[in-house]
Amino acid sequence: MNFRSFKKQSFRNQLIILIGFLIVLLIIIYLLFQHNIFHYEDDYVELKDPVKVDPLKADYDIFQLDDSEENLHIKYGFELFINTAQYIGPENGDPEMKYSGNNLSCTNCHLNAGTKPYSGMLIGVINRFPQFRGRENKIGSIEERINGCMERSMNGRVLPVSGNEMKAFVAYMNWLNRFAPEDGKIKGVGYANVKIPNRRVNLEEGKTLFAEKCASCHGENGQGVALREYKGYLYPPLWGDDSYNNGAGMTRVITAAEFIKANMPYGATFEEPELTDEESYDLAGYINSHARPLKPNPERDFPDLTKKPVSTPYPPYADNFPIQQHQMGPFQEIMEFYKAEYGMVKTK
Ligand code: HEC
Ligand code: HEC
Repeated sequence: MNFRSFKKQSFRNQLIILIGFLIVLLIIIYLLFQHNIFHYEDDYVELKDPVKVDPLKADYDIFQLDDSEENLHIKYGFELFINTAQYIGPENGDPEMKYSGNNLSCTNCHLNAGTKPYSGMLIGVINRFPQFRGRENKIGSIEERINGCMERSMNGRVLPVSGNEMKAFVAYMNWLNRFAPEDGKIKGVGYANVKIPNRRVNLEEGKTLFAEKCASCHGENGQGVALREYKGYLYPPLWGDDSYNNGAGMTRVITAAEFIKANMPYGATFEEPELTDEESYDLAGYINSHARPLKPNPERDFPDLTKKPVSTPYPPYADNFPIQQHQMGPFQEIMEFYKAEYGMVKTK
């Protein structure tokens, strides 16, 4: 055989081997597909690939966790969140553990232990911190944000950052985060958008609506129904000595209207609200027209006053609108002022 025919023959052999190889490969791929090798079971995907789970449809049942050390922090955080007053409230029995100034629980405002959309939902919150905060005019941590609610919504004092309680809250929020997208931005974060009427709150209307739709649970005088032995509330008070103080987010009529629209009367949701925007606005104004504890040193909030939300009920302000207008509206004029003067678009 000469060199030429040898080359030809060896080329043919190689071609046969290659084709044989391809056929075998195709058969293998076919068999793999047949046996569902490339198809994950749905729950398998949930466990291995959290990104594909809808954070709002995920299971947040704390009782599925075993008692490992990390899980005990998470479980204590959950307990603290739903029975706050029992552990750190003013009547818990241990003077050193009195951190809250009222008997509210975190879950009274962050519904279903922080998992209900449009009620200040806390799924994903960890991923949004550290975060710039206008109230302090600096980048704040999740611990500082929790302490913001301690000093205002709970009318209390700050929890030590390295203490068991703060660690437990953070562990619980970390656990709520397990299916959240990296930027923390999921449907249901914050509150529902309410079209704020371009007028002052109608307190008479608010009062009538309150008697009709709210008093059955929160009481005619807004004081709620206390759970004495558990040191908390079945229905929380909406004003008075045991309520949130005037530095809390809920004292801003716009924030309160947004909360009420998607959550009250109890059972209402963003998808199925029971109140109109106008009604939510008048009710928010009515509950916040009553006396409540005062936050110490309110003038220290918002070092840059232009960043203060327009419905913050206490002065000073970077504008000349009267306090009453910051409390009860109309807010549009104030928003337009900040747009024209500072180029700032304000929504609350
Ligand atoms: C009286 C109602 C109320 C109570 C009680 C309350 N909060 Fe809040 N919380 C709010 C409001 C309103 C906001 C949003 C404020 C804003 O928009 O500036 C908020 C915001 C937060 C945030 C930031 C949420 C985000 O999306 O950035 C965290 C974290 C938080 N609260 C934790 C807690 C914890 C922990 C407790 C219990 C110790 C608690 N809150 C009790 C009303 C409340
Ligand atoms: C069926 C009973 C019920 C009715 C009716 C009801 N609420 Fe509530 N409300 C609750 C409960 C319960 C909570 C606390 C949520 C939790 O702990 O899960 C709450 C919480 C609140 C809060 C936040 C907690 C706080 O202390 O401020 C506000 C504000 C509020 N309700 C306003 C209203 C308004 C306004 C109405 C009338 C439109 C209303 N509620 C009607 C049961 C009710």
